[in-house]
Amino acid sequence: MKVKIAESAGFCFGVKRAVESVYKEIENNNEKKQIYTYGPIIHNEEVVKDLKDKGVIVLDSLEELKNVTSGIVIIRSHGTSEDAYNVIKENNLTLVDETCPFVKKIHNIVQEEKNKGRHIVIIGNPVHPEVQGIKGWAGSDSTVIETEEDAYNFKIDDNKKITIVSQTTFNYNKFKYFVEIIEKKGYDINAVDTICNATHERQAEARNIASKVDAMIVIGGKHSSNTQKLYEICKKECNNTYYIQTIDDLDLSNIKENSYVGITAGASTPNNIIEEVHANVREF
Ligand code: F3S
Repeated sequence: MKVKIAESAGFCFGVKRAVESVYKEIENNNEKKQIYTYGPIIHNEEVVKDLKDKGVIVLDSLEELKNVTSGIVIIRSHGTSEDAYNVIKENNLTLVDETCPFVKKIHNIVQEEKNKGRHIVIIGNPVHPEVQGIKGWAGSDSTVIETEEDAYNFKIDDNKKITIVSQTTFNYNKFKYFVEIIEKKGYDINAVDTICNATHERQAEARNIASKVDAMIVIGGKHSSNTQKLYEICKKECNNTYYIQTIDDLDLSNIKENSYVGITAGASTPNNIIEEVHANVREF
């Protein structure tokens, strides 16, 4: 089997930094404080399980966070809303903020633009924690748009000016398309492409590889939105595209011998999983 593995596959800078930070906190925790992450540190069950075995507790909601009165709380790369920061402060918890700088930049943009009285449109998945965090900073005068239909149905006061941002891992072509739909409605808009470079590069490389191979394998957690986007992009170019979480999901029976196979992976996929899949496909 000839295999092409994407150079951009796997942990991006923001995720790598956040995961390493949790391990660092565990190592340096001389006072034996309880370590929490506010939400799973990444969309990867294996990593989250390893951290749990080392004593890290995942807080799944603001309510759970409110009940914590001591310890270290690590905010993941997706970032979070202002509410969570306030609770951490009020409860005197130690904050380790691993919000990716690219996400932090979006928080700053939406705060500034909100203060200018503009309506904020966030293009992204409304249930994704990153989008919920951005929405928290954007305030109530904001709308999340996820689909073409949402963009067509979008309507606010005609005199209101709009600033549009994107979830960092959104599909760039879709972002552009949704901005065009909103623009045609005649609003005064300021669209800021906040899709991060790591995502741009990963998507462009995946598209390129998928257009050349006989089969494409996309590796990532099933809740990982950037992996889902990668799958969509690859599937468009190569009908023979497979979405797997780990080596156990890999079914090579549909791939013909001597095929040219491409591999890419989402931002929360550890290297060892990518390597395992790579080795198996190569030897098939
Ligand atoms: Fe940050 Fe981009 Fe990764 S926003 S967390 S570097 S996908």
